[in-house]
Amino acid sequence: MFASVFVVILGLFYCSKESSQSFLGRPQLYGPSEALAKKAVEFECEVLDYPEDELILLQLFKVGDHNWLLGESTSLDGEVAVIPMIIKTSHEGYLECVASAQNNSEITPTVSHPHYLKVVEPVEGAEIIHSGPVELYEGNPLKLRCELSAGTHVSYKWLLNGQPVSQSPVRYVADDRLMIYRTSSGDSGSYVCVATNTFNKTRVFSSNSSKVVFTVKDLVSNPSITFTVLKEDSQNYSAVVTCESTRGTPPITFSLYNRTELVSNMTTDDRQATFKVPLVLDRHLGWLQCQANNSDRIAYSDWLPLEVVPVGGPVTMHYDFDLGENYAIVSLRFYCKVKKGSHPRYQWFLNKTLLQDRGSFYYVANEPPKQSILLLSVGRSSTGTYRCEVSDSFDNTTAISSKKHYLDKDVLNRLPILLVAVVFGCFTTLILLVSICCCIGVMFRRRQYGEKSLLNLEMERMTVAYEGDLDLSMYNEDPDVVNTARGDEFDQTSEASLDEWLHIEEEKTTLEDEHV
Ligand SMILES: *[C@@H]1O[C@H](CO)[C@@H](O)[C@H](O)[C@H]1NC(C)=O
Ligand SMILES: *[C@@H]1O[C@H](CO)[C@@H](O)[C@H](O)[C@H]1NC(C)=O
Ligand SMILES: *[C@@H]1O[C@H](CO)[C@@H](O)[C@H](O)[C@H]1NC(C)=O
Ligand SMILES: *[C@@H]1O[C@H](CO)[C@@H](O)[C@H](O)[C@H]1NC(C)=O
Ligand SMILES: *[C@@H]1O[C@H](CO)[C@@H](O)[C@H](O)[C@H]1NC(C)=O
Ligand SMILES: *[C@@H]1O[C@H](CO)[C@@H](O)[C@H](O)[C@H]1NC(C)=O
Ligand SMILES: *[C@@H]1O[C@H](CO)[C@@H](O)[C@H](O)[C@H]1NC(C)=O
Ligand SMILES: *[C@@H]1O[C@H](CO)[C@@H](O)[C@H](O)[C@H]1NC(C)=O
Ligand SMILES: *[C@@H]1O[C@H](CO)[C@@H](O)[C@H](O)[C@H]1NC(C)=O
Repeated sequence: MFASVFVVILGLFYCSKESSQSFLGRPQLYGPSEALAKKAVEFECEVLDYPEDELILLQLFKVGDHNWLLGESTSLDGEVAVIPMIIKTSHEGYLECVASAQNNSEITPTVSHPHYLKVVEPVEGAEIIHSGPVELYEGNPLKLRCELSAGTHVSYKWLLNGQPVSQSPVRYVADDRLMIYRTSSGDSGSYVCVATNTFNKTRVFSSNSSKVVFTVKDLVSNPSITFTVLKEDSQNYSAVVTCESTRGTPPITFSLYNRTELVSNMTTDDRQATFKVPLVLDRHLGWLQCQANNSDRIAYSDWLPLEVVPVGGPVTMHYDFDLGENYAIVSLRFYCKVKKGSHPRYQWFLNKTLLQDRGSFYYVANEPPKQSILLLSVGRSSTGTYRCEVSDSFDNTTAISSKKHYLDKDVLNRLPILLVAVVFGCFTTLILLVSICCCIGVMFRRRQYGEKSLLNLEMERMTVAYEGDLDLSMYNEDPDVVNTARGDEFDQTSEASLDEWLHIEEEKTTLEDEHV
């Protein structure tokens, strides 16, 4: 039963195949999916189901708005049709094979599945195209494009001084373009674009552009203006004015102005320029300004008054100090000031030796023109006579000296101990005196209770007077004590020198000793 059904079906199948094969099956298209431009390749098209003895036309089309016939061939009885072609870049896209019976319009043509063809054209002739100049100022954009004479499926790489340029917030790298929105001097250098493509994952083609050097100039920053004084001879002085910018790509043109009037100008390959201007001492010679230019923008300095006052008036020196443990003076600061002078030079002397910059026990801190400070760590080596000298920085024949000041570690450090002794002594004396008064008072009251005698009155007056004296002496001493304890400044310009003061303190101590 089963066998007979199977034979019938098989029979039917064969009958249809043998006799009534009057349609075309779907053709199969074979060929490379990737091809090199200008190379010859072959596509093959085959129809498996075909009417016998019918000549089949097989045509290769590129699919598009208008189907484009790329080649054709005929096939009889299922032969494989070979369609050769020379690849062009325009061949890239979907290809289809269309099969039709050449002399039988009753047979419906059939179409293969689409086949994608990628066409690789090796890159050639890379070149950098830029619209702007090769010299530009920071902040301006730089736009580059890599142009090729040939190439498909290209990837691009940009090199700056041989290093790859990557994407950043200010840099846009995409396809054949490189855009820098705001350039800075760091973007200067030689640019190369490298175009690459690959065929069959194995063959790599590349083309390097020639180098193009771009220079991004930094805008000059606002210059500073300073001047020093130069003594030309005994009568003539000059101001040497220096204009200096911290950044900016040279060459820079510096111009010196006196208000609105151009005094001088100079173009330098440096970031500074100096101008010499004649000078008259003690006279205001106007207001100076530096202008710096290395582009279309000018940078301005502050205004500087040109006036030189020679040093004059008294040179004063005072000091303050810090107390360490046990009320020992550990460090001391001398201050030196001069009454007038715009360009003073301060010098410190110990005995007759000049103290320069810093030494084992001292440090010179100049704060010109205001003052100079000499910091001392008090010790055996700092003993000696100190003095400060001020002269014009441009003329050292004008030196003015301060008063001399003798400093001794031991004497200095005995001082606070003395002070403590004095304070303690005074206090003890006060208590003693008060106690004595009380005793005397009590005795008198016991003896003459209720009576008002001349003696009592006198005694009362005496006590008051005594206490008044005491108060006075306390108040005389107090301010000094407080001052020293706090380490407050006390001006040594007053005639009372340390030695004198020490002398007074010593006298007080001897008095105390007597009291005790
Ligand atoms: C097909 O028809 C063309 C004319 O249309 C004729 O020249 C050709 O010989 C025919 N070929 C076959 C195989 O019948
Ligand atoms: C592509 O590369 C493979 C090996 O990776 C090679 O067998 C094949 O022939 C290559 N095709 C062409 C078109 O060169
Ligand atoms: C192109 O540049 C690459 C660097 O990316 C380098 O390795 C190669 O040698 C260069 N080729 C030519 C022809 O200069
Ligand atoms: C200094 O001044 C005198 C006139 O006062 C002048 O003759 C001389 O040339 C000046 N010297 C310099 C170096 O400027
Ligand atoms: C510099 O000064 C000269 C005149 O002294 C003037 O001719 C020139 O234009 C000035 N240059 C600049 C950059 O200002
Ligand atoms: C600046 O100009 C004033 C007059 O406007 C003049 O007296 C002075 O000497 C000038 N100073 C300099 C340095 O040229
Ligand atoms: C600044 O300098 C440039 C040349 O470096 C010049 O072309 C420009 O005119 C100058 N600008 C001014 C205001 O002097
Ligand atoms: C300075 O002179 C005094 C004597 O007047 C001496 O005791 C002291 O050691 C000298 N100081 C220095 C640093 O030479
Ligand atoms: C200061 O005077 C000395 C000579 O005492 C001299 O050698 C030196 O050059 C002068 N310095 C200045 C800045 O005038």
